[in-house]
Amino acid sequence: MNTYIGIDLGTSAVKLILTDDSGAILRTVSKTYPLLQPRAHWSEQNPEDWWLAVCDGIAELTAGMNPADVKGVGVGGQMHGLVMLDANDNVLRPAILWNDTRTGKETAYLNDVIGKDRLQNLTGNIAFAGFTAPKILWVKENEPAVFAACKKICLPKDYINYKLTGVFATDVSDASGTLYFDVANRCWSKPMLDLLGIDEAMLPQVFESEDVIGKTTLCGLDAAVVAGAGDNAAAAIGTNTVRAGQCNISLGTSGTVFLPTDTFVQPDNPALHSFCHANGKWHLMGCILSAASCNKWLNETVFESDYAVECGNADNDLYFMPYLSGERCPHNDGDVRGAFIGLSHTTTRKQMQSAVFEGVAFAIRDCLALCPPVARATVCGGGTKSRDWMQVLADVLQLELHIIDNEGPAYGGALLAAKQLHAPVVKAVVTPNADLADIYEKKYRKYKQLYPMLRDFYRQED
Ligand code: XUL
Repeated sequence: MNTYIGIDLGTSAVKLILTDDSGAILRTVSKTYPLLQPRAHWSEQNPEDWWLAVCDGIAELTAGMNPADVKGVGVGGQMHGLVMLDANDNVLRPAILWNDTRTGKETAYLNDVIGKDRLQNLTGNIAFAGFTAPKILWVKENEPAVFAACKKICLPKDYINYKLTGVFATDVSDASGTLYFDVANRCWSKPMLDLLGIDEAMLPQVFESEDVIGKTTLCGLDAAVVAGAGDNAAAAIGTNTVRAGQCNISLGTSGTVFLPTDTFVQPDNPALHSFCHANGKWHLMGCILSAASCNKWLNETVFESDYAVECGNADNDLYFMPYLSGERCPHNDGDVRGAFIGLSHTTTRKQMQSAVFEGVAFAIRDCLALCPPVARATVCGGGTKSRDWMQVLADVLQLELHIIDNEGPAYGGALLAAKQLHAPVVKAVVTPNADLADIYEKKYRKYKQLYPMLRDFYRQED
């Protein structure tokens, strides 16, 4: 039997799955690692922790089976993270992650001094604090010894692929999120590399996602490793979101809306990312920095509950702003932080629970409002475990949602390795309640008034 390993190098854990030729999921394994937040706005992880978790995960996933059956490995990974290696391939500092917002100054320099138009012309995108380019500028300025010692720069899943194969490679979808990649032409942007002061020799070779970059012999395997994809493009492969007109919503640590396009598209509003897809084409994407992670925070940190709190009804005046790690799309504001607004003596846990579900749904609506209209969407990621949340999301978006029975990126990684596409298993279809359309429309309009207030509050000098 031919089998394939798909790996999702996430922010809370690495998830590994084993599939067969029919696309059936035979086994799953998950291994966590710490998220380091040593200072406000910082979010880091140790690449060595990822690698140890991947090694343990592959050993557990393949235990008791014939390793020769595994024909391919594909990794989807958290995007934008900066991994820096020295001349001996040692990790120079913890990776700076996609939801790290320390680079306000560098992001403003890129957008305001270099200019959004020039950035868009060169790369297809403007700068956001979480993108890789401003992080390189930050390290250059704040840790010059690290920058001087750095001989290789790569993205999180590329580090794993390098450890697996010894081949220093990246793929077009993940490279798109660096801001030194020319998305329209699917190659590194030389003018951007000059502007950042980095040499192309420091960067991995670029492949399409399905291309085999090498093989791994880890755990007795002898399997081809493909270039893989950024986690959102991998999730889109996993949910079969590959044609214009489709839409996948992912509710993981981050939340994203992902719309394939046939050609490179420069969106009217540059808060939308325009990236390469893992299928040889392109896509538009809006990203919020905290989605299922808001619900995790509410239930684990605040309620200390184990997700048992029921949802209240929509008819109340409590709002939750989901900016626990700052904001990416549409406001591009790394400094703003989250809030409950409208608390009173009568506020209940149920209402706080539904406000969190609604706040994330409104933020997803903010992203979708910038996109071409869609008729329905698939939804994947940890947030789909709550049926209540999926109903709130369908009601807020007034969109039919197809809830996918796989978490997305790991399944997409396995499909890339198998060079296959499969219609995913839909575990539920959630239809919007038309009776709630007006209530949520009014609430969304009020929600939209709250960001400018928070922005002004967080912009004030101390
Ligand atoms: C996408 C983004 C996030 C991470 C999450 O631009 O920053 O979705 O990829 O892992």
